[in-house]
Amino acid sequence: MHVVILGGNSGIGAALTTHYLSCGAMVSVFSRTAMPVEQAGQPAWSPQQRADHRQYLYQPEQLEQSSAPLQDALATVFAQPVDLVFCCLGLLHQAELQPEKSLRQLSADNLRQAFEVNTILPSLWLQALWPWLTKSPQVKLCWLSAKVGSIGDNQAGGWHSYRASKAALNMLVRGAAIELKRQLPQATLVALHPGTTDTAMSKPFQRNLPAGQLQSPAATARRLAATVADLTPAQNGALLHWDGTVLPY
Ligand SMILES: NC(=O)c1ccc[n+]([C@@H]2O[C@H](COP(=O)([O-])OP(=O)(O)OC[C@H]3O[C@@H](n4cnc5c(N)ncnc54)[C@H](OP(=O)(O)O)[C@@H]3O)[C@@H](O)[C@H]2O)c1
Repeated sequence: MHVVILGGNSGIGAALTTHYLSCGAMVSVFSRTAMPVEQAGQPAWSPQQRADHRQYLYQPEQLEQSSAPLQDALATVFAQPVDLVFCCLGLLHQAELQPEKSLRQLSADNLRQAFEVNTILPSLWLQALWPWLTKSPQVKLCWLSAKVGSIGDNQAGGWHSYRASKAALNMLVRGAAIELKRQLPQATLVALHPGTTDTAMSKPFQRNLPAGQLQSPAATARRLAATVADLTPAQNGALLHWDGTVLPY
């Protein structure tokens, strides 16, 4: 099995990498900065797992420019058929950017940053991979989204930039899935809610969570891998909960 992880420094992306390496897969990982090869608190990787782990550095601007180094990296990665791709990019908070509690806190800057990381870059990644997918016609593409990006499910309000940018991502996935079905009927593209996971993203918001909701990154990786193993082209274009049930758009 060959798995590609986009956004390898994410808490969930790193856990997916470790999970699939421990299952004997080859894992090709893209991130902006070099990632620690092994995760703190996890067993050391075997020499085989180290050999199966391929790291590629990229800069987000390269996605817009269709740059030669990125194309070279994709040519290397897709020389081996790819079974699964996870896009793990996401932004909820950083420095001055905090999720809004009310519309009064909305700013153009917050909206721009959220849309850049949650919508634009994951969309450009899909576009960058598109020409290579014919080499892997049964590929499963899992773009990590969020339940709070479901418009139909929104009963609480707030977090406007994050919610809106994930809702836009969901629409992009839905539209691209229609094109994918025409081009590669055996491939599957979904937006996938990973569940609340103990990563840097959720850290400041973990205090009032119901017992049992917060999962370790390793547990989330196991749950997502189990769901994705059962994914079929019939689910193409869906927004899925981590357990495979369909969420409303
Ligand atoms: N954790 C949760 O509870 C939770 C819940 C629902 C949905 N999700 C979704 O699951 C996915 C992974 O979440 P996580 O908790 O693992 O996130 P995380 O640990 O905060 O990782 C963030 C990821 O986003 C990328 N990123 C951040 N800023 C960027 C920028 N300016 N340009 C390009 N890339 C940028 C990072 O890329 P590099 O690898 O290049 O550094 C990293 O891969 C996200 O889509 C998130 O929205 C998470």
